[in-house]
Amino acid sequence: MIAVRPADGTILRQKVLDIMDADSSIPTFSASTTKLNQMFNDADVSFSKLGRVIETDPTLAASCIKLASSAIYGRGRIDSVAHALSRIGIKEIRRLSTMRGVLDTLRRFRVEINWNIFMSHALLTARLTEHLCRGYVRKPVADGGSAYLAGLMHDIGRIFLKHHFPGEFEEMILRSMQTKEDVFEMERETVGITHAEVGALMCKKWNLNTDVIHAIRYHHEPMVISVMMNNVEESTNIMAMCLCAANAMANCYGEKFAGARILHENHEMMPEWNVLSRLTAVREIQFDIAGEIATVSELIATLLAA
Ligand SMILES: [Fe+2]
Ligand SMILES: [Fe+2]
Repeated sequence: MIAVRPADGTILRQKVLDIMDADSSIPTFSASTTKLNQMFNDADVSFSKLGRVIETDPTLAASCIKLASSAIYGRGRIDSVAHALSRIGIKEIRRLSTMRGVLDTLRRFRVEINWNIFMSHALLTARLTEHLCRGYVRKPVADGGSAYLAGLMHDIGRIFLKHHFPGEFEEMILRSMQTKEDVFEMERETVGITHAEVGALMCKKWNLNTDVIHAIRYHHEPMVISVMMNNVEESTNIMAMCLCAANAMANCYGEKFAGARILHENHEMMPEWNVLSRLTAVREIQFDIAGEIATVSELIATLLAA
């Protein structure tokens, strides 16, 4: 009998799934990030209670103080974590704590990447996804943070692939730089699984919201989302569509992580935008891309310096 050897992609895909199944394969969030996430879901949480937990995490406490005294908040003097929290406000503390938690968790993969570019792209995508969702999602998702979280986490699968398959990953990046093709299709051929699927599996392991998992899974496949919608404009697929458009827009105007395809100069020419604009906006979408990029670089400087 002639043994048929499966393509490398099939073998590597199975390897990814096996790694994912192993209990200790994915780093977990720190105790303070987990505790803060629970506290943010409590509508009556106070600055003093949050402050006490944040003070147990010196890097997060330093980030809060640095952000509160940055140009975004008027550069005033800050004396304590509680003072910083009252200036930043609950919504921004939640975002900062999420960013810090995601960055610290991903850094435990110990891959050599430019974290500044990776996090700038993630953060710009997060902010744009939130703006677009505000315009298109009829009934905003209950916790209000899902769109932002999906944007922040959308490319985490790349870190996993780079950690576990460094040779294949570098080869794909080089090929994509030569051919100007997106690395997404190459992942399917080479590893048999894309960073979008891997990212969704990681979020599933962390028990994140199903809307976040769905959006990350399809963030490079606007046409697939469009078919899934089948003329029903419900929030899960709208959020996924907003993430597709936000990611393409962030690649168009912001810092590009190696392997992103070359895009049109104007985001309105992109297929992701085309598909999104067929939906009915329920609110006016207002944001200034240059202002968003400036805020992102200020936030990244705060985050990476702490
Ligand atoms: Fe991606
Ligand atoms: Fe991306």
